[in-house]
Amino acid sequence: MISTSYQLSKQLPKDLKGRSKSSQEWLIRQLADPYVEKARMLNYRCRSAFKLIEIDDKFSLLAPGHCVVDCGAAPGSWTQVAVHRVNATRKDTKKPVGRVIAVDRNPIYPIEGAILMGGVDFTAPSAQARLLELLDGKKVDVVLSDMAPNATGVHAMDHENILHLAYSALRFALQVSCVGASVLLKIWDGRESSRLEKDIAKFYKQVRFAKPPASRGDSAETFLLARMFKGLKS
Ligand SMILES: C[S@@+](CC[C@H](N)C(=O)[O-])C[C@H]1O[C@@H](n2cnc3c(N)ncnc32)[C@H](O)[C@@H]1O
Repeated sequence: MISTSYQLSKQLPKDLKGRSKSSQEWLIRQLADPYVEKARMLNYRCRSAFKLIEIDDKFSLLAPGHCVVDCGAAPGSWTQVAVHRVNATRKDTKKPVGRVIAVDRNPIYPIEGAILMGGVDFTAPSAQARLLELLDGKKVDVVLSDMAPNATGVHAMDHENILHLAYSALRFALQVSCVGASVLLKIWDGRESSRLEKDIAKFYKQVRFAKPPASRGDSAETFLLARMFKGLKS
């Protein structure tokens, strides 16, 4: 039996039998999740879109004309939100036109207004060299990282692995950001989170943890949001 308070029995698919317990639980959670339905209705590729929407609605990271690098972008819902909010699709002819470059080690299917680098490991020097080429000297306003490693289930190890990705995005952000820029980094909370927070605070005037309502309460996921990049001394 599945231990869940699942109420939507009328939506229960008939083919639950034969699935593993964890797969059944995942499916039931998806069906009961209002963000999944909302994402489908609004044509977002996944429910993660609402994490960025909620953070941006609260902290106003993205604005028309901004240049954004989205790390760990597949399947692409953050990129969909970003292209819209920075006006990379030129839908609003009166506002400045932004730019979004999306990177993921998995393929990313085309997204109008975005420059995609699918099948690329962001942490590889060659990937970052390619990004620098694409930026062609243009400074970045926002670096997003929703990168997540494959979870092993061993919390300490997963925490360490995701921190490695977050530091990689941070190092890149320090290199390419304009003064006043922001960075948003996903981590799974753990004992080294405060170290990352302290390290970020050396370079940004405002640093805070953000846990948007769309981020499941039972998950260790949290976001470090740093704003007002101080710039690097040359
Ligand atoms: C939670 S998903 C991102 C979801 C995405 N923000 C969206 O809204 O569609 C995490 C992603 O990080 C990517 N990832 C993990 N390690 C990576 C790396 N070293 N380089 C590039 N992408 C990576 C994974 O392939 C995965 O697609």
